[in-house]
Amino acid sequence: MMRWPVSLQSLAAQCMALLLAIPLTELLQILFSFQATLWSFVFVQGGIAAALSRVWRQAAWWPPLHLVFLPTIFLARQAGLPAWIHLAIFVLLVLFYWSTFRTRVPLYLSGHRAWHALASLLPRAHTFRFIDLGSGLGGVPLYLEPDFPHGRFYGTEIAPAPWFISRVRAWLKGSRVNFMRDDYASLDLSRFDVVFAFLSPAAMPDLWQQARTQMRRGTLFISLAFLVEGRAPDHVLAGNAGARHTLYAWRM
Ligand SMILES: C[S@@+](CC[C@H](N)C(=O)[O-])C[C@H]1O[C@@H](n2cnc3c(N)ncnc32)[C@H](O)[C@@H]1O
Repeated sequence: MMRWPVSLQSLAAQCMALLLAIPLTELLQILFSFQATLWSFVFVQGGIAAALSRVWRQAAWWPPLHLVFLPTIFLARQAGLPAWIHLAIFVLLVLFYWSTFRTRVPLYLSGHRAWHALASLLPRAHTFRFIDLGSGLGGVPLYLEPDFPHGRFYGTEIAPAPWFISRVRAWLKGSRVNFMRDDYASLDLSRFDVVFAFLSPAAMPDLWQQARTQMRRGTLFISLAFLVEGRAPDHVLAGNAGARHTLYAWRM
């Protein structure tokens, strides 16, 4: 069965909920004899949208988002915020999340524990080229670089704001990490000896296909938190705080 992109599904859930909320609010008024207000309508709409989201098996964070979506808009209107604030927030979100609706990989950051484990997988005695695919704010290569004088570090990030922040961080630190603003799908991974990714389950099948096609024999593909289908990892470094800190590595 064809599955809609989650953004279209969510739009449909909100629109359908708007249509269904009108008769349902009327019915509730009749059954419980109360005077419906705009707020009761808005929460009925949110409840229906959240229920549709669950029925359509959207990820766990969607139903609460649907529940508060329309109420938040009304709250913002009542607060009388100037119109430019909405535009500014929208532009900021676009700059940080860019094409998340397509890539299905939002910005969220890994931490020191994972970076420390990652360092234990990198070669200390010979030169290598490392890339972080989807480098976010640049934390991973900026953390590793000082400990690996033989390493040449790269990051690639599709969203403009995180990419810009990582360039500024590298400049402030006097770092040689090369942060590119490219879709990793357009890169040739055969240029790298270690490829690291912390993305999402949705991104893994295509990325694994790309890695298998392009990476050279003997190089290392490392994924934080997300496995690939069809091949068990050669190394598993389990962080003690669960799957979010588990590193999986495959020798190509
Ligand atoms: C989960 S964050 C990881 C950030 C960083 N690597 C870390 O470990 O803290 C994933 C990042 O990948 C970026 N991204 C998603 N798809 C991408 C693509 N096709 N090419 C480049 N970057 C991408 C997102 O914008 C996001 O910043």
